[in-house]
Amino acid sequence: MQVNTLILGAGAAGMMAAAHAGPSTLVVDHARAPGEKIRISGGGRCNFTNLYAEPANFICANPHFMKSALSRYTQWDFIDLVNAHGIAWHEKTLGQLFCDDSAKQIIAMLRAEMERAGAQLWLQTTVGEITHDGAFRVSLMREGRETRITARNLVLATGGKSIPKMGATGLAYQIAAQFGLPLVTPRPGLVPLTFGETFKPLAGVALHSRAQGQGPAFEEATLFTHRGLSGPAILQASSYWQEGESITLDLSPQTSLFDLLKSARQTAGRRALTTVLSQHLPARVVAYLGEDLPKTNLADLSDARLADIAQRLHHWQLTPTGSEGYRTAEVTLGGIDTDALNSATMEAKALPGLYAIGEAVDVTGWLGGYNFQWAWSSGWAAGTAI
Ligand code: FDA
Repeated sequence: MQVNTLILGAGAAGMMAAAHAGPSTLVVDHARAPGEKIRISGGGRCNFTNLYAEPANFICANPHFMKSALSRYTQWDFIDLVNAHGIAWHEKTLGQLFCDDSAKQIIAMLRAEMERAGAQLWLQTTVGEITHDGAFRVSLMREGRETRITARNLVLATGGKSIPKMGATGLAYQIAAQFGLPLVTPRPGLVPLTFGETFKPLAGVALHSRAQGQGPAFEEATLFTHRGLSGPAILQASSYWQEGESITLDLSPQTSLFDLLKSARQTAGRRALTTVLSQHLPARVVAYLGEDLPKTNLADLSDARLADIAQRLHHWQLTPTGSEGYRTAEVTLGGIDTDALNSATMEAKALPGLYAIGEAVDVTGWLGGYNFQWAWSSGWAAGTAI
């Protein structure tokens, strides 16, 4: 069977590319249904983009690579598409847009767009051997039968390695390697960090915080779990963290604890330090930290002591033992090296006709709708270039 374009992966990026790649397009996926990650995303309501998406919200070895696609297919273009399909949405927080009803509406919209473009979709299809001799020749197994496809263009859209239980595989990396495209070593991103048993006594506590790895600081909730730290602030910081490094946690990003303690010393100097702190921070956190804090009344603490205590609570240095890994990571950092791709078209520089899009590429967004925006923008860039 001959097609102009074969797209591997019917996820967010693959479906978007298929909606623009022209009628002779076949999309294949080994899953039972397309867009499974869309379906479960955003608690079933899909955080489909972010009002403030811009290149600075993405991690990539080349910080300029994503500029072209993001500026030519923006969050506003996707919002227009969602509106055209009559899907109701709302902004939750920090520019994050969610469906009012269900993520399934986004999948139905993409399927309708693919159909309108004339693309075919084959599910429960396994990708076998791939060769290239001017055209791509791909062996596919479907319903126990092999079909050999000849395609002028091959689009790698099988995503990253996150959540293998949902069918994530490293197929895009293997095919990229087969055709000589370099990889930036993949690793889990937007992932809870583990600390052994350290925080077990605090499991279940959540607080507003500012977390920072080796990148920007993120001011959102941190959640203590049986195994370590989670919550949006930690997930964001985890994408800028590597094994062996520490993260810094500010337990009171909005209020200076030095000012708070100093003024409490004036008005209530006979109260214990931990009592005053417990009025501002979760009591279990204060009890946990209390072992390292002076047991004295505020009146007995000098400015220098208060400053030292405040500094520790605003800059709590923590070294994770690891992360929860691909099992729970929302994304995969790294992937197909963007140096090998044309940033306007996502086509491999060394092999015309080979494209890579979405999470398979070394472009990773922050938490908050950015990763889908990259899938839409890169999928659109490849689809319209084909
Ligand atoms: P995606 O993973 O969507 O699609 C890849 C497709 O390829 C899948 O359909 C898969 O079955 C198929 N495939 C894989 N290997 C294959 C093989 N060997 N053979 C055949 N087919 C194969 N982002 C965001 O912006 N907002 C959000 O709300 C969320 N929420 C969220 C929740 C959870 C739990 C996760 C795990 C992730 C998110 N994300 C997110 C991230 C977002 O889901 C992700 O970045 C995009 O889905 C990436 O789109 P892709 O199309 O590149 O890959």
